Amino acid sequence: MATKTGEGFSSSFGAIMAAAGSAVGLGNIWRFPYICGKYGGGAFLLVYICFVFFIGMVLMMSEFVIGRRSGEDPVKAYPKLQPKRKGWRYVGIMGLITCFLILAIYLVISGWTLNYFWESLTGTLASISNDGFGKHFSEFASSAGRPVLFVILFLVFTAFVIIGGVEKGIERVSKLLMPILVVLLLVLCVRSLTLDGASEGLAYLFHPDFSKLTGEGILAALGQALFSLSVGMGVMIVYGSYLPVDDNIMKSSIWITICDFAIAVLSGIAIFPAVFACGQDPTGGPGLVYQVLPVVFNSLGTVGRIFSVVFFLLLSLAALTSAISLLEALTQWLSSEKIGRTISAIVMSAAVVVLAVIASFSFGDGIFSGFKIANMQIFDLLDKLTGTILPPICALLTIIFFGWFMNKDDIYDELSNHKTLKIGYFKVFYYFLARFVAPLALIIVLVAGLFGK
Ligand code: PHE
Repeated sequence: MATKTGEGFSSSFGAIMAAAGSAVGLGNIWRFPYICGKYGGGAFLLVYICFVFFIGMVLMMSEFVIGRRSGEDPVKAYPKLQPKRKGWRYVGIMGLITCFLILAIYLVISGWTLNYFWESLTGTLASISNDGFGKHFSEFASSAGRPVLFVILFLVFTAFVIIGGVEKGIERVSKLLMPILVVLLLVLCVRSLTLDGASEGLAYLFHPDFSKLTGEGILAALGQALFSLSVGMGVMIVYGSYLPVDDNIMKSSIWITICDFAIAVLSGIAIFPAVFACGQDPTGGPGLVYQVLPVVFNSLGTVGRIFSVVFFLLLSLAALTSAISLLEALTQWLSSEKIGRTISAIVMSAAVVVLAVIASFSFGDGIFSGFKIANMQIFDLLDKLTGTILPPICALLTIIFFGWFMNKDDIYDELSNHKTLKIGYFKVFYYFLARFVAPLALIIVLVAGLFGK
């Protein structure tokens, strides 16, 4: 079923590139390596793989089915598929609120990234001494002017693509950027792996240290799996509503998941060997990319400077295609309320930029840093809500709807493209994973993570 506005992706390839563009982002290149390092490297990776393939991928298929079957935005999709239970629309609303919050914090970090791209291009980063990067980052991120400027610039790029439309904007940009991103990342991996002492970094990333894998780490792995695949907040319902009728949803979801997972691991391979080879601290946390990597790049001379430009460009592009999907979800919902696409995109951008600026000002020693909710600065609160709490809750409700409330024949019909595809593994997927494994695992991890030790 096509969407009411007639918007949609023109081909399966375009759809896969756009959805992979949404999935691959700061979550893979900035967040995955430091979280993986924090919670035990290889041990975290093992748990993460299970969550990605048994929960994340299942959710992706479910969201695509809900989106394509209904042809609606997340708020209208649920009641359309289950007219007797209109209350499910609140899951859609909660998803969109989550998108809004994620986009705000995403814009702040994307703004930092764009600034670092600019500073590596103009040589500013190269002129800083090795022990000056920590100070440079905190002074920059806590200041009032520059980060906001880059947030706005990044948002303008994002809104521009959205206003261009689903096929001519999102699909075209994703088809161009995704392959470039993979090439840039592979180049960085090769360079990193050929440095002296690279093997130590690989060992750090892959050697399983189960003693560091706490309950908190397991919840973080789940949050990361959902965040990284862009599932649990309705974005893939939106992209599902744009999928071509002949797209094989199971196959596409498997490809997108593999691609997202591979890029996260490749990012780890690009980052850790270099960090070790240059004697830096691998547990640099969120600042790893902005405080530790510049030291690595500077120690590689002129080549390092080129790699610095390439890396921050890569990160900016990856962030762009993800931010596009978040803004698209909000825009699609507003424009289905009979407001034009352009106006919707502008209104949503204006609303989200307010929160992004507040979040930016609350970071570090920023001017709002004294203002706290639940003993947390706004930036940290948003990070916690969007990274570990809201997506698993929305994901749980979505998968319960899919497995227990949606009509099974509709699901089969949608997955088999109206019975034109043979999908022998449907039963395994539906009965085993979607109805039982994914919801149960989500409940256990959520309850244990939120209330247990
Ligand atoms: N998946 C994106 C990333 O890894 C972030 C994102 C989350 C995008 C949710 C859309 C929706 O960076």
